[in-house]
Amino acid sequence: MKEIKKICCVGAGYVGGPTMAVIAQKNPHIQITVVDLNKERIKAWNDEDLSKLPIYEPGLDKVVLEARGRNLFFDTDVDKAIDQADMIFISVNTPTKTYGKGKGMAADLKYIELCARQIARVAKTDKIVVEKSTLPVRTAQAIKRILDQTGNGVEFQILSNPEFLAEGTAVTDLLNPDRVLIGGSQSEKGKEAIEALASIYGSWVPQERILRTNLWSSELSKLTANAFLAQRVSSINAISELCEVSGADVNEVARAIGTDSRIGNKFLKASVGFGGSCFQKDILNLVYIAKSYGLNEVADYWEQVIIMNDHQKRRFAENIVTTLFNTVNGKKIAFLGWAFKKDTNDTRESAAIYVANDLIEEEALIHVYDPKVTELQMLSDLDYLATREEEANKKHLTVHTDAYKALEEAHGIAVLTEWDEFKSYDWKRIYDNMQKPAFVFDGRNVLDHKVLESIGFEVYTIGKGK
Ligand code: UDX
Ligand code: UDX
Ligand code: ADP
Repeated sequence: MKEIKKICCVGAGYVGGPTMAVIAQKNPHIQITVVDLNKERIKAWNDEDLSKLPIYEPGLDKVVLEARGRNLFFDTDVDKAIDQADMIFISVNTPTKTYGKGKGMAADLKYIELCARQIARVAKTDKIVVEKSTLPVRTAQAIKRILDQTGNGVEFQILSNPEFLAEGTAVTDLLNPDRVLIGGSQSEKGKEAIEALASIYGSWVPQERILRTNLWSSELSKLTANAFLAQRVSSINAISELCEVSGADVNEVARAIGTDSRIGNKFLKASVGFGGSCFQKDILNLVYIAKSYGLNEVADYWEQVIIMNDHQKRRFAENIVTTLFNTVNGKKIAFLGWAFKKDTNDTRESAAIYVANDLIEEEALIHVYDPKVTELQMLSDLDYLATREEEANKKHLTVHTDAYKALEEAHGIAVLTEWDEFKSYDWKRIYDNMQKPAFVFDGRNVLDHKVLESIGFEVYTIGKGK
């Protein structure tokens, strides 16, 4: 089996950065270079001040500190790193297409293809190319064709090694994965490549947790895993609406069903809606693939997960308007949280963006506090929706670095992210400084509602009937 001495990872984002940091930490004998076109990002990865790393993940700074400069490097010279590597990970972004055929549905493979062409052009020795980004089924075949037909006659083995890490727990997920999935060609050479990658993970992951499959199963498993997880959230959110009108309590229902070992108790938290870079994109991708094979019932089935999620976000915003006497025009609505979940600064597809957008349509003044998300990011999230002029977004969105200031004089408070610190705020002080009646809309069910009600708040909880 070929020994891997040098690895290159193209793409220094949420996936490439933490994954390579952990692989480097656990394999000091392998030199790993993470490259990116984005100079600012690379500069941030190399910053002496670890609080400036481009992504926030608990525990990541320690891993980077240990490996960086030893066998982990961040660089902008993509060609050089490709040239020297035995194994190349592709971790570039694959957003949903915003143009042309498959717009709003299919994954945009522009960056993947550019990356494959670059590898083909540069590579002068045999390489193992690993797909890390989430990709539609059979992308490996396209990558292989580009590599073989535009390359310099060297041999490429393609592997699919999808990422299952969740943001906010990326480092612990990487250190202690439920499983590592490696798909590859079933030929002799393909199996050798699979084993080469398996031995890298084998430095810290028990062999029985390293699953080997063919390429297509691996690619499809990634989409399916995310679709199933998202479907659980949409399922419990669908039940949450039923709970609200019928007088049941969704937390009680979740507990009752979660104790059935066939269902399991994880991923049953009702919320204002799921976000993140993966769930929506992967399901849309699945829907697109199903449609392209003419499997309309399959496509419709999975699309419903997205439809339910959109509905959940919209009805949360509508409920705020209705409760505040049918108008939020000129009213201050304070948001606690903007990130798509706690312990991350990532805002991609966050429910907060859509709820803010709907409320701004109603002329509300949104004041936000999030411990990790910058003002620039929040404004760019709203601008990306292209609902109104950028100036109008600026006028309607005020970002605070002090939570109490964000909440002062507010007509209503909406909790959009489940940051732990929100629980320990001085809620009496907050109540005293708010407009009355003082409303709280807990989109994450994280606050102690009995305590809030005893202070005098009117509390709306997702999935709890009155
Ligand atoms: C997800 C998958 O979990 C991970 O395996 C994959 O590699 C990438 O996509 P991530 O998007 O980082 O990870 O976060 P995740 O914890 O799965 O949460 C996604 C969204 O669902 C968040 O907005 C979260 O708040 C929401 N969610 C999750 C709920 O609303 N309720 C739940 O019970 C669980
Ligand atoms: C079900 C519930 O399991 C039980 O808790 C409830 O009280 C009554 O309904 P039952 O209908 O007896 O029980 O059988 P179950 O084993 O749940 O299977 C239901 C159907 O689903 C069967 O046709 C079974 O073949 C099918 N099934 C089940 C699958 O096709 N695939 C599976 O993975 C599991
Ligand atoms: P993910 O969540 O999948 O990691 P990110 O957007 O956080 O996505 O990271 C992907 C990174 O890949 C970005 O920093 C982007 O600049 C980089 N990238 C995209 N295409 C290329 C390329 N051809 N060469 C180098 N870096 C690239």
